[in-house]
Amino acid sequence: MTTTGTFDWTAVASGWDAHRGHVEGMKEELSRRLLAQLDLQPGDRVLELGAGTGELARQLATAVGPEGHVVASDVAPGMVELQRKTLAGLDNAEVAQLDAFDTGLEAGTFDAVVFRMGLMLVDDPPRVLRECHRLLAQGGRLAVAVWAGPEHNPWMTCVGMAAMMHGLVSGGPPTGPGGMFSLADPAVLERVVADAGFTDVVVRDVSTPSRFASADEHFDTVTALAGPLSAAIAAASEDTRAAVRKTAAGLSAAHRTANGLELAGRALVCTAKTAEPARRLVVPLA
Ligand SMILES: C[S@@+](CC[C@H](N)C(=O)[O-])C[C@H]1O[C@@H](n2cnc3c(N)ncnc32)[C@H](O)[C@@H]1O
Repeated sequence: MTTTGTFDWTAVASGWDAHRGHVEGMKEELSRRLLAQLDLQPGDRVLELGAGTGELARQLATAVGPEGHVVASDVAPGMVELQRKTLAGLDNAEVAQLDAFDTGLEAGTFDAVVFRMGLMLVDDPPRVLRECHRLLAQGGRLAVAVWAGPEHNPWMTCVGMAAMMHGLVSGGPPTGPGGMFSLADPAVLERVVADAGFTDVVVRDVSTPSRFASADEHFDTVTALAGPLSAAIAAASEDTRAAVRKTAAGLSAAHRTANGLELAGRALVCTAKTAEPARRLVVPLA
């Protein structure tokens, strides 16, 4: 399996299930914009890669209507199980275990491909983007969302930095290949999408703020969701975990308000198209 290193997100599937309300709340504006920019039409066929809990796939299914079709997918079996639960009873949605590198699906069969908060985690984004391009019909649309830089995402960095300070570093730097912030530069994201053969590439940034009642709630939520970081913290001794929690609380204190912790977040949404079908030139007969 070619995921974030070899990390299987099944390990945090129960955390994603428990915190799906928080995840969707934080990404509400992001999802709204992503859907608006995709401009899905009734009858469209949509593939979602790395679909996590399947909550966005449910919105995609609503957008394409009963004539349309959505395939929600993920490489992690635990996430695929969550998607089955989320999409149960929807006649226009199905679930599949797919690796974004090589889906094995027929070329040109989708009007839109969506990958929300997953492309930056793979170690070879150009290869995944070429696969997305292959799967799209002519004039098909791509929508990819990734995290903006660490300086814009204290909801994550307060915990990540605390883990690092206590020696719990998992994998390479978060800005390196497969890291959470590896596609955080809009110019890099735009280039990598264009290089895969897409046209009309547009990158926009969007705010993903989150609120927590307390520093403990913040720490528990992030460590339930944060993939490899969650695994590193879970594997640490009780004393180390307590020390990381305390350091994270110190770092997040700067974001305390009368309403609890208000932590900023920012993501990039990139939309693009495959080339339109060539127009036939009609030459009038003399
Ligand atoms: C941070 S989670 C995001 C989940 C969901 N898209 C969301 O925005 O809430 C990243 C997801 O991408 C999936 N993923 C990582 N590498 C993948 C790959 N090569 N193919 C398909 N899915 C992958 C993970 O299993 C995980 O479910």
